[in-house]
Amino acid sequence: MEIRETLKKVQFDRQDLVNMLSATGEDRNLLYEHAAKIRQEHVGSKVYFRGLIEFSNICSKNCYYCGIRKGNRSVARYNLDDAEILEAARFSYENNYGSVVIQGGEIASPAFTTRIERLCREIKKLSDNSLGITLSLGEQSRETYARWMNAGAHRYLLRIESSNRELFRKIHPEDEHHDFDTRYECLRTLQELGYQAGTGVMIGLPYQSIDHLAGDLLFMQDFDVDMVGMGPYIEHPDTPLYAHRDILLPIRERFDLALNMIAVLRILMKDINIAAATALQAIDPMGREKAVRTGANIIMPNVTPGLFRNDYALYENKPCADEDPDQCTGCLDARMQLADAEIGYGEWGDSVHYTKRRERIPSPGKKQQ
Ligand code: 5AD
Ligand code: SF4
Ligand code: FES
Repeated sequence: MEIRETLKKVQFDRQDLVNMLSATGEDRNLLYEHAAKIRQEHVGSKVYFRGLIEFSNICSKNCYYCGIRKGNRSVARYNLDDAEILEAARFSYENNYGSVVIQGGEIASPAFTTRIERLCREIKKLSDNSLGITLSLGEQSRETYARWMNAGAHRYLLRIESSNRELFRKIHPEDEHHDFDTRYECLRTLQELGYQAGTGVMIGLPYQSIDHLAGDLLFMQDFDVDMVGMGPYIEHPDTPLYAHRDILLPIRERFDLALNMIAVLRILMKDINIAAATALQAIDPMGREKAVRTGANIIMPNVTPGLFRNDYALYENKPCADEDPDQCTGCLDARMQLADAEIGYGEWGDSVHYTKRRERIPSPGKKQQ
């Protein structure tokens, strides 16, 4: 079917998604134009900031693709102290970012739970209750998720990495700490508790096909996620998956495929929040702007103190690694103008999808508050 015809549809099957994901040349332009139109109609032209605090690169897991995996001995491990984290949050507040994302390696311990709980409360306090808090701290127990929510967090990012069980297996060690079902259950729990639940995948992984990616989009739709962050897979030399680099798509094609994924997702799930992943900018200096043009509406400027940014290297060529937070602020302002987007300063920018979903189904999380 011609792409023009596919774009006119209101419901899309797997084959439609594969066709759209495969678009190149003029078809790709049509796809991007259509996605941009939908974005404008359903979520508007605003882009919302989430100040990203990468507070620690200490991780208990060993994901085969990730540069800060536990088994990588060549990483200098760091763990910001509370004052440094709160300083980064204060910076976000003072610069009107609206929200922060607290991201770190995955640790599950009572002390860790208590620490994050305390930090959430402190961040709320220093911002006069106004900063939104997104957490990205991996798989945790229901109790932990609930405690963090009570302390003020209201969004949670947990990428499924690949919704295809076999591919998930191939990119993770085969043990109980890296289990597809556990990841899935965590996502469900987050949604049940009333978080805005976000997930995502890596694009261009070894052994990944366009059909897998179409499956990922259907997974997101079926799961009814509120937000998605997804970007190209970028091989890291100190990881096991690096051995498979010969079968990867060229990096530029992974980038294009990631943009196609963003565009098709916008067409499929019109009112969710979609982040322009930093990994896009690691490949193309204008990567995030291109993502915003094709449907993304969330940017996560790094507000981690400059000194530590280089050590949070999940992949190589991480952008802004040597910049300070205030350098990024001015830079992003100019960049968003280039992408014809307006920055929603001081706004939470919650996903429209989430608001509608909450109105439809009163979730158990609401009663607990
Ligand atoms: N390339 C791209 N993304 C990666 N991530 C981890 N390692 C890589 C890599 N080599 C992503 C994962 C994880 C998120 C925090 O970073 O999707 O969920
Ligand atoms: Fe740890 Fe996340 Fe990296 Fe996996 S992807 S090793 S959980 S930081
Ligand atoms: Fe960090 Fe441009 S966004 S320097």
